[in-house]
Amino acid sequence: MFRNICFLLIAAKLNLMVLLLLATSFSSCLNERAMELALTEKEDNDGKEQDEKESLVEESHLDSEDLEVFYPTNQWQVVQPGQAIPAGLHVQLNLQTGERLAKLPDDSNEKSDLKDSPKTKRLGHVNIDPSSFTTQELKKALAKMKESMKTDDILEQKIRQEDVKKRFRSIDKLKEEFKELSLQLETEFEIMFKLIDKFNSSTSTLEEKIAALRDLEYYVHQVDNAKDLLSLGGLQLLINGLNSTEPLMKEYASFVLGAALSSNPRVQVAAIEGGALQKLLVILATDQSLPVKKKALFALSSMLRHFPYAQQQFLKLGGLQVLRNLCTEKGMEALHVRIVTLLYDLMVEKLLLKESQGDSDQTKEKTQQYNQVNLVPAIVEQGWCTIISNLLGFPEHDTREKVLKTVQVLLDFCSDSYKGDHHLNNALNLLRQEYEVLAAEEQKEEDEGGYFKEILSSINSIAQQLK
Ligand SMILES: *[C@@H]1O[C@H](CO)[C@@H](O)[C@H](O)[C@H]1NC(C)=O
Ligand SMILES: *[C@@H]1O[C@H](CO)[C@@H](O)[C@H](O)[C@H]1NC(C)=O
Repeated sequence: MFRNICFLLIAAKLNLMVLLLLATSFSSCLNERAMELALTEKEDNDGKEQDEKESLVEESHLDSEDLEVFYPTNQWQVVQPGQAIPAGLHVQLNLQTGERLAKLPDDSNEKSDLKDSPKTKRLGHVNIDPSSFTTQELKKALAKMKESMKTDDILEQKIRQEDVKKRFRSIDKLKEEFKELSLQLETEFEIMFKLIDKFNSSTSTLEEKIAALRDLEYYVHQVDNAKDLLSLGGLQLLINGLNSTEPLMKEYASFVLGAALSSNPRVQVAAIEGGALQKLLVILATDQSLPVKKKALFALSSMLRHFPYAQQQFLKLGGLQVLRNLCTEKGMEALHVRIVTLLYDLMVEKLLLKESQGDSDQTKEKTQQYNQVNLVPAIVEQGWCTIISNLLGFPEHDTREKVLKTVQVLLDFCSDSYKGDHHLNNALNLLRQEYEVLAAEEQKEEDEGGYFKEILSSINSIAQQLK
């Protein structure tokens, strides 16, 4: 505890230090930059386009012909924009006002320190004693400085200049990005509004409506946009689209709905109140193309996951039978693994909640809701045990993995039908042979147990429990 507080204090101190460092480096940076501007301005006098864009200190144009000079005293004075500051002065930046202040060093000690500083060295043999300068003299001195810098120090100067430019260019870039970002924040709602309007308009063609839905699907993945879909009345329009006579409309309305529903309790509640569940089940229970059913199943899955109330309604409305019929329907094989995955997820969801028995009111309420979802008894009653185990015949590893996991979860409940099931026994034996080979090959390539080894251990564990 104490250690934590201490650590926090240190962190706070570090932050402060970083801030101070930033402030000091920033002010010296500004100072040097002002000098550079004064110098480069003279250099590029013949109208060459140069660094003005990156001019960080002041936007005002520096005219080299009447270069203003700052007359330093022992007191802090404000340096006006465009004024050149002789080297060797103390310069401060007032972070609140953005003003620069400059004054002469307090005593000769400091002066000699300054002379030995890299900055003084860089300025070479030009000896500056600002207090004795007239405007003309300073101009001359500056010109001379430039001469000297052209020789040995010019490279260092250039590098540093580039460095400063880069740093401030990146700040400019950041600002640009911020601008774009806030612009985006403003318009995303507007975009949603326009898309919904396009979708709802009686003058839009079917193609235009589908295009609007495609775009909407992109936006509603974001939780905030999904909420806007709700407040703009778009959700009900989508639900209405589910029983459109146009298959494409059903498909894309389901698609957008599924995306908006994903892990979004507010949309889930509104959708079930809007009648989405019944309409999705109608799509799945009637004669529709595979793409339409695929998207409807996607929307149904998003609707049911982590929403026990919807799961309860799903069972009441006969949703499980609808899914079971799909598992025997020709041409719908692509949906089988999706259906098993959904059932597996819903069963595990409930089991995990039971394991994580917390005492919070929220957990209690959730547990109560889940207690009313009698999914596993319905699964057993409707003959899913063998429907699921028969899917082990699919050739894809992913499907088999999913089915094996589901069989494992169901093992205790389906023991009546699984024990003495020769079909299942044969399937497990065949799979064991296949995955023993694959797991051995896998082990040659990797040190750790891999994917096939895991599948093999599922097979063995199921076979063991069926004995
Ligand atoms: C859709 O259009 C109808 C008829 O023009 C209008 O009454 C309704 O408010 C619109 N709904 C949305 C969400 O824009
Ligand atoms: C869709 O269902 C709603 C009621 O839920 C109904 O009012 C509407 O007429 C149906 N649309 C079509 C095209 O069948």
